[in-house]
Amino acid sequence: MNESTLKKSLSKLNLGGLRWFDSIGSTNDEALAWATEGAKDLSIVAADEQTQGRGRLNRRWFTPKGSALAFSLILRPPLRPHLSRTVGLAALSIAESFAQSGLSPQIKWPNDILLNGKKTAGILVESVWSGEDVDSLVIGMGINIYKSSVPPADILQFPATSLEEILGSKPPKREEILLGILTSFIHWRERLGTDELIHAWEEALAFRGEQVEVKGGGEIPISGKVDGLESDGSLRLKDLHDNSVIVRFGDVSLRPAA
Ligand code: BTN
Repeated sequence: MNESTLKKSLSKLNLGGLRWFDSIGSTNDEALAWATEGAKDLSIVAADEQTQGRGRLNRRWFTPKGSALAFSLILRPPLRPHLSRTVGLAALSIAESFAQSGLSPQIKWPNDILLNGKKTAGILVESVWSGEDVDSLVIGMGINIYKSSVPPADILQFPATSLEEILGSKPPKREEILLGILTSFIHWRERLGTDELIHAWEEALAFRGEQVEVKGGGEIPISGKVDGLESDGSLRLKDLHDNSVIVRFGDVSLRPAA
C-alpha cells in the first residue's frame, strides 16, 4: 500500500481528507493535531509504520513497516447523544470487513476484534475538547494483517493473531480492507441511534453466556456471564444470583474467567 494505491481505492468515498505517512510516531497523534487545526469530518491519517503506536491503558501498539493496517479517522462533530456507541460502530465496521473474507469475527467488549478467540484488531478512541464539549473524535484502528504485525507472545496481555495466519493464505490488500471498514463505518454511522446497531453489535459479542472478569483501574474485578448490551453500549453481565450488573466504558479489560 502506498499513497497512490490508497487514494485510488478510497476515491469513491466522500472523505474529508487523507494524509499518508511511510513512517510516523502515531497516526492518532497526527489526527488529534489535525483535528485541532480544523480537519474536516471523515478525514483519515494512515501509515505504513508507527514508531510510537499507542494502545488502550497506556500500552504500546506494535506496527512494523508493511505489516498492518494502522489508521485514524476524524469525526466532526461527534454525534453527541450517541458518543458511547461510537466504539461499537468502529468495532462492527472492522468485524464486517473480516466477515467479507469469509471469517467469523467476534467483538471482545469494548474495543477488540477477535478471530478464533485471538485479538486481531484494536481500537483507541480519543477526543479533542472545546471547553466542556467534545469538538471532534479520533478513532484509531490497528489491524494485524501479516504475521509480522503480531508482537512476541511473552509481551502480550491477550493472545493475538493476524489475518494472514487465520486465512492461511495471502490476506486481501490493506487498501481493500480499509475500503471495507470505511464503507461499513459510513453505513452504520447513519444508523448510530438505532436499535439495529445495538443488535448487530450484540450479535457479534464474544463470550456471550460465558463467565468473564472485567478489571477496571485498581478496583476488584467484576465477574459474571456476558448477557448483552445496554442501549448506550455498556456491557450487561449476570451475576451468580442472576442479577444484572452493568459495566460502563472506561479503562476496563475483559477476559474469560480462569
Ligand atoms: C488497543 O487495542 O489497545 C488499541 C490499539 C489501537 C491502535 C491504533 S493503530 C492506529 C492508531 N494509532 C495509534 O497510535 N493507535 C491506534
